Amino acid sequence: MSHNVVVVGGGVIGLSIAWRLASGHDVTVVDPTPARGASWVAGGMLAPVTEAWPGEEELLDIGAASLAAWPGFAADLGIDLYTEGTVVAGFDAADAAQLDIVADYLARQGRTVDRLTGRELRRVEPTIGPSVRSGLRVPGDLAVDNRELLRRLTSSAAEAGVEFLREPVRAVRSGAVELAGSTLRCDTAVIAAGAWSSGLHPALASAVRPVKGEILRLRARAGTLPPPRHTVRAFVESRPIYLVPRADGELVLGATQYEAGFDTAVTAGGVRDLLVYGERVLPAIAEYELTETAAGLRAGSRDNLPLVGRLEPGVLVAAGHHRNGLLLAPITADAIRAMAAGAEPPAEIKAADPARLER
Ligand code: GLY
Repeated sequence: MSHNVVVVGGGVIGLSIAWRLASGHDVTVVDPTPARGASWVAGGMLAPVTEAWPGEEELLDIGAASLAAWPGFAADLGIDLYTEGTVVAGFDAADAAQLDIVADYLARQGRTVDRLTGRELRRVEPTIGPSVRSGLRVPGDLAVDNRELLRRLTSSAAEAGVEFLREPVRAVRSGAVELAGSTLRCDTAVIAAGAWSSGLHPALASAVRPVKGEILRLRARAGTLPPPRHTVRAFVESRPIYLVPRADGELVLGATQYEAGFDTAVTAGGVRDLLVYGERVLPAIAEYELTETAAGLRAGSRDNLPLVGRLEPGVLVAAGHHRNGLLLAPITADAIRAMAAGAEPPAEIKAADPARLER
């Protein structure tokens, strides 16, 4: 039965939900600046395997299920995916030990991963610098141009009938979304406001927090080496970074990670660290044009799992996706669509039930 849904938040999660719900429901997205925030700043890695860490098996399962849904999701949107996969580079003995832990963990999970020397890694990805000593090759990870994705989601949602209201939201309760001077009545409200979700409903009060991340965008120039073919992740003397190529010669270099409230200033120290570590991984970037610096706020949860489920009758949440918002967009949208229809969501998403907050 068609009903009226208000999605609070127009980042990748809110837009994906709105687009997927639009056939069958009247959907409104409320966000003063849709298609911006952390989704706009993101690198675009769809990489459950290389974001995985021992102890986070449920997150890996949700990520793997969402990765499997990505080709269909992308095809429906008419957007291309990058399919070269990921390589991971390490420098010192501690980095090599880190790669061993990741490789062993992934092997135990039944995931394919090749352990390489620095020389073997350079054969796979020749742009990698000479001081890299160890590596992994992880086929199967995907990547997407996050900004193109946001444009496609926005236009596809609008074409499917989704309305956009550019206003801040004060609070969400059963059957109602409170704006500054008015109330939007709805059958279902979906809180998908990333790091801002905690201020919108009492059940989320301390459940989601902002985790700042800075990124750089660089561009290859005439006469420089082109960007890598693969997504490159690295531990540079224990500091994790990633470099994600785009088809047009752009390279996203990220990311810092620290807790600074809702601060989104790009710091000199953050830019310096990314450039210093990035150049050690890919020396060619020193000659690239630095085209953009930006900071976004990931929505961190207490256990790194997202919060996807029912808060009270008529109120669903889809927030707390932390480092995995783009990756988890398809499974989150499928789950919310199922829940809004009173159906069972995908099995893997049950670990993200916000009921765990009460335990
Ligand atoms: N997923 C990459 C990041 O959060 O920086």
